[in-house]
Amino acid sequence: MCGIVGYAGARPALEIVLDGLRRLEYRGYDSAGVAIVCDGELQTEKKAGKLANLEKLLAERAAATDGDSGLGIGDGPTGIGHTRWATHGGPTDRNAHPHQASDGDVAVIHNGIIENFAKLRGELEDAGVQFRSDTDTECAAHLLAAALTELRAAGEENSPQLLAKAMQQVCLRLEGAFTLLAVDAAIPGAVVGARRNSPLVVGRGQGENYLASDVAAFIEHTREAVELGQDQIVLITADTIEITDFDGQPASGTDFHVDWDASAAEKGGYDWFMLKEIEEQPQAIADTLLGRLTENGQIMLDEVRISDEDLRDVDKIFIVACGTAYHSGMVAKYAIEHWTRIPCEVELASEFRYRDPVLDRSTLVVVISQSGETMDTLMALRHAKEQKARVLAVCNTNGSTIPRESDAVLYTHGGPEIAVASTKAFLTQLVACYLIGLHLAQVRGIKYADEVAAVVAQLHQVPEKLRELLGRIEPVRELARELKSAPTVLFIGRHVGYPVALEGALKLKELAYMHAEGFAAGELKHGPIALIDEGTPVICIVPSAAGRSMLHDKVVSNIQEVRARGARTIVIAEEGDRAVEPYADHLIYVPRTPTLLAPLVTTVPLQVLAAEIAAARGHDVDQPRNLAKSVTVE
Ligand code: G6P
Repeated sequence: MCGIVGYAGARPALEIVLDGLRRLEYRGYDSAGVAIVCDGELQTEKKAGKLANLEKLLAERAAATDGDSGLGIGDGPTGIGHTRWATHGGPTDRNAHPHQASDGDVAVIHNGIIENFAKLRGELEDAGVQFRSDTDTECAAHLLAAALTELRAAGEENSPQLLAKAMQQVCLRLEGAFTLLAVDAAIPGAVVGARRNSPLVVGRGQGENYLASDVAAFIEHTREAVELGQDQIVLITADTIEITDFDGQPASGTDFHVDWDASAAEKGGYDWFMLKEIEEQPQAIADTLLGRLTENGQIMLDEVRISDEDLRDVDKIFIVACGTAYHSGMVAKYAIEHWTRIPCEVELASEFRYRDPVLDRSTLVVVISQSGETMDTLMALRHAKEQKARVLAVCNTNGSTIPRESDAVLYTHGGPEIAVASTKAFLTQLVACYLIGLHLAQVRGIKYADEVAAVVAQLHQVPEKLRELLGRIEPVRELARELKSAPTVLFIGRHVGYPVALEGALKLKELAYMHAEGFAAGELKHGPIALIDEGTPVICIVPSAAGRSMLHDKVVSNIQEVRARGARTIVIAEEGDRAVEPYADHLIYVPRTPTLLAPLVTTVPLQVLAAEIAAARGHDVDQPRNLAKSVTVE
C-alpha cells in the first residue's frame, strides 16, 4: 500500500530511486513520483498511472531539456520516490506524491492515512496556506516547511539534524498511520524518515544509505538492513544513520541481514511474477519445512516467547487474517482441531476486532500475514494482546510489524512474493499452520514424536508432488482459454476443499475480474444451485476417497447434482479416482495426498487457471486493477 524509497549517497539518486520503485510497484500503482535534490534545488516529477507513465514523462523531459541524468531531471545524489495506492484523493497527477509546501523547497512522500488531516488542513488553510491536492499528505509537507521556517527563525543552522528535528515536530501533530520521507533543497545530502504503524526499513550501504517500505527496493545494493521501531525518526546521509524517537531522544533499530538476493525479486524469464511464484512453490514449501523437526522429534518454531506451560493451558484458538491468508486459516482450523482437540475459530481480521470476541490469557490467537503489515490484522493482534491473549504470528517478512508485536513467530520461508495475488505465500502459510497444529499437539502430549514425524514426512513429499503436477499443467492452460468468456464460474468443495474453493474463486475475481463464487458443496442445494445454467462452469474439488470415503462420495453426488442442471463440470480429484470420471467434463488429476494436506496440491491448478484466464483476457496478471499487495490502511 504505497511503496516508498529514499537514497542518500554519492551516485545519481534518480536511477536508484526508480529502480527501487520498480521493485515496490506491487504495493500500489495508481501513480508514481520522485523528488531529487540537485545543486541546492528540488526537482520533482510525478504522474498518474503505473511507474511506466512516469518513466515515459521523464524520458520526454530529457529529450526536450537534455537533462543531466538522461532522465529529464538532474544528477543529484539525494532523492525520494513513491508509488501510490490511493486513499485520500483520486489517482490523479495532482494527488501523486511527492507533495511540496508553498516554498517549493520541501518534498514529502507518505504511506498510510493521517486521520486528523481534516483538522490540520482547516488550521493550515485558516493560516493562509493554499492546498494543491486532495491528499492528507500535503498537510505534512506544509507542517514540515513551517517547522523548518520556525527553527531557522529561532537561529538553528541548516544541517541534516535540523531536518530530523522538524520532522519530529510534525510527527507529534499527526494521528493515524504513516511512513513519511522528506528532503529539503537547502539541506542536500540528507533524507529523513518517520514511522508509525506503517513499514520502513533502512538499507546500510558503503558510503550510501537507503530507506524503503521493503528491503526489495535496495536488495540489489545491500543486504544489510536495519529494522525501525514504532514512532521513530531516521535520518540518513551518505555516511550516517541516526535514529531517534518522536521526542528527539536517541533510539536504536535492530540490524538484520537479508538472506535472499536480488534475483529472487526478478521475473527470471517468466512473463509474470505470478507464474514464477507458482513454479517456486515446491522450493518455498521445502524451505519452510527446513530444520523444523529436531533430532529428538520436536517441532521448532522461530521465535517463541510463550512457555510450554502456557501452551498447555490454551483452551481456545482464534485464527485471524485477511484475504488469501484467511483462507489458509480456514484450512488450518480443520487440521488444528483434528490434531489438538482445541476449539478453533477463524475470523476475518476486519471483523474480529469490532465484535468484542471473548479472549483471555488462555486464548491463543494465530495471526497470518504474508507481509506482516496488513493493518486490519495488526489491529486485531493488538486487540488480542490488550485482552491478554497470547499471539502467535505466521509471517513471510522478517522484521515486519506483526511478528515483532507477537509472542511467538513461525516464519514462512517463501522468499519475496511480488505478484499481488498470493500463491507461494498461501501454500507456505498452510505448511506453517500444519506445523503449529503438530507443535501444539506435541506440547500438550496428544501426539507422540513418531506420529508428528509421520505427518512431517508427508509434508516433505509435497514439493516433489508439486513439481510433478506443475510439469503436466498444460491442459489447465488450454482450459483457461476455453473458459475466458464465461459469465460466471462457480467453485465447490467440502471439508478442507471448501476453503480451496473460496481461494480459487478469489483468484479468479482478483485477476480475471470475472464473477466467481466458492461454496461449501453441501450448501449448494440451499440456494446457489439456482445460479446454474446450461454450460455454467463448476469447478469441483474432490477429497481423497482414502480414509474419508463418505466425504468423497458426498462430493461426487454434488457433482452429479450440478451436472444434472446443465453445469459444465471441471473436476479436481486425486490420481486413480475413477469414480468421478463419468461426471467430469474436464478432469484434472492431482497427486495423492492425505486429506488434511490436500489443499497444498488442489490449490495449484486453480492458481494457474486464474493467471491464464487473466492473461487470455489481456489483464495485467501481477498488478490487478484496484488492488495492492500490502494493505496498510483499515
Ligand atoms: C491483500 C492482498 C491479498 C492478501 C491480503 C492479506 O488484500 O491483495 O493477496 O491475501 O492482502 O495480506 P497479508 O500480507 O496480511 O497476508
